[in-house]
Amino acid sequence: MSGEDLYDRAVAIAERAYAPYSNYLVGAVVRTHDGRIFEGVNVENAAYPLGVCAEKSALVRAVVEGCRPGDIEAIGITAAPCGGCRQWLYEFRIGSVTFRNAAGEIVTYSAEELLPETWDLPE
Ligand code: THU
Repeated sequence: MSGEDLYDRAVAIAERAYAPYSNYLVGAVVRTHDGRIFEGVNVENAAYPLGVCAEKSALVRAVVEGCRPGDIEAIGITAAPCGGCRQWLYEFRIGSVTFRNAAGEIVTYSAEELLPETWDLPE
């Protein structure tokens, strides 16, 4: 499944988002190196800051199934990832992050490119 296929699947799953406050539906689809697929959507809450982004919900599902940093090859997202999600994508060392940018183009970057000069927990 190519980056563009992941993006298309993210568009399809976005309709399951629970976003009654923003009405902004986001979908994300993760593909592992061994070919497994995990889907996520944003889930909002009446206490607004408690909402969860689509990227995080897809990554949480992957982790529940045993995935760790280095196991995830690619993710497709219907929107440009927010700053916090970029840190999550970086944590999992995702090599290929595909989304539709503000100009309407489908673009792909590594998680590292999306968060230059990134903070890491000192060893
Ligand atoms: N949202 C995501 O799901 N992912 C992002 O990277 C950007 C923002 C969601 C959070 C909230 O439910 C809605 O979009 C509006 O901010």
